[in-house]
Amino acid sequence: MPSRATHWNQVHTTKTDREVSWFEASPDVSLQMLHDAGMTADSCVLDVGGGDSRLVDALLAEGLRCVTVLDVSGAALVRARARLGGSASLPTWIEADVTGPWTTPAVDLWHDRAVFHFLAEAEDRARYKAHLLDTLSSGGSAIIATFAPDGPTACSGLPVQRYSPESLAHELGPAFELRGARAHVHTTPWGSAQSFQYSWLQRRR
Ligand SMILES: C[S@@+](CC[C@H](N)C(=O)[O-])C[C@H]1O[C@@H](n2cnc3c(N)ncnc32)[C@H](O)[C@@H]1O
Repeated sequence: MPSRATHWNQVHTTKTDREVSWFEASPDVSLQMLHDAGMTADSCVLDVGGGDSRLVDALLAEGLRCVTVLDVSGAALVRARARLGGSASLPTWIEADVTGPWTTPAVDLWHDRAVFHFLAEAEDRARYKAHLLDTLSSGGSAIIATFAPDGPTACSGLPVQRYSPESLAHELGPAFELRGARAHVHTTPWGSAQSFQYSWLQRRR
């Protein structure tokens, strides 16, 4: 079994952006949920497992200047920086496994589309939650998108855990309140439908 970094670097160096199932030209649902959670140009946002996502482009276009992208794949971050060109110096880039050692100043918003659902081991989920509590400010919000109960059981050759908003809120525990949720059917670049859920979980003050 290759390490996570090896697996994901292989993906990000052998497939183009449109050859991966999760590609979306515009992260509309993520942006909508971040706005619902109160995002402004002054917000600090962390995109966990941001990879090659266009979310960072959209956040910069909205005038945010406190944006961090974390990914286990250095190759993904190289690709995102190349795409951003002269704007690549604006975000902070962290090459790390979300379940490993890393740190960043507190953020108002934590965004994760299609990363938490890969954490099959309870110990990994516990480490993810510890980072979430270390990093998200009191009253801040996490937008977490995973495959829904009727979604795929695997992605990129890896098994995934599927969640409803309620089961995700239960998994994150009493420090979080489920403030909103949205079901979304993502269409892959080759036309398949994938059922996602997006949850807005606010950290209790
Ligand atoms: C399915 S892709 C989703 C990418 C992006 N969030 C999007 O919506 O386009 C999963 C991403 O998370 C990264 N990743 C997977 N496991 C990770 C982990 N444990 N820690 C940090 N990043 C991880 C991968 O390198 C990849 O970029």
